[in-house]
Amino acid sequence: MSDISFDHVIRTRRTARSYRSDPVSEALLAELIELATLAPTAVAAQPWRFSAVSNREVLSQVNVQVKRRLLEKLPEWPFLQRLQPSLESESFNVFYGAPALVVIQCPQRDHVAVMDCLLAAENLILAAHARGLGTCFMGFVLMAQDVAGLAHAIGVQESYQIVAPIVVGYSDAIPQDPPKRKPAEITWMR
Ligand SMILES: Cc1cc2nc3c(=O)[nH]c(=O)nc-3n(C[C@H](O)[C@H](O)[C@H](O)COP(=O)(O)O)c2cc1C
Repeated sequence: MSDISFDHVIRTRRTARSYRSDPVSEALLAELIELATLAPTAVAAQPWRFSAVSNREVLSQVNVQVKRRLLEKLPEWPFLQRLQPSLESESFNVFYGAPALVVIQCPQRDHVAVMDCLLAAENLILAAHARGLGTCFMGFVLMAQDVAGLAHAIGVQESYQIVAPIVVGYSDAIPQDPPKRKPAEITWMR
């Protein structure tokens, strides 16, 4: 791959919020996860674990649990308040109908491992986009990870924490306009 096509992948990646129901094969999910593991890690620790959830019943139950928890947390988190109508709507799905959820996880209270997992997450997101798949980083799931049984239901190991829950799927609705970004503020120390 030339640098130009790699830049193109970065420049055209967008969050997808609508998915077709077609499944993503386990082989493809495994390939994305393997590419995620090529990210750098502090002292080469590779502290992560991964789970991949494609069980629709589980995703549907977790969707309901997440919405309920976020509604409970609305008073604490004013930035969520504009989402209240969506969270109250039965038809709103926090996973946007995606057929798979990959959960990157690391040992609890290991702050360095969190950084490692986030680097792995970006690898996975870009690799998915390069293969024509859409992704969405699921902050909603992070915010609801204290719901009893939720982490277990999505394959998080005992004594591990969720760092990067990412839905993956085929989308007809990936925004085509380039991401809007503020110019970087750079301090040049010449
Ligand atoms: C840590 C993090 C959490 C996010 N959580 C959510 C989420 O819960 N739901 C959602 O629809 N998008 C979520 N996103 C996607 C962002 O809203 C999105 O990346 C941002 O609006 C920029 O758009 P772009 O990804 O298309 O460039 C999250 C992104 C990050 C990095």
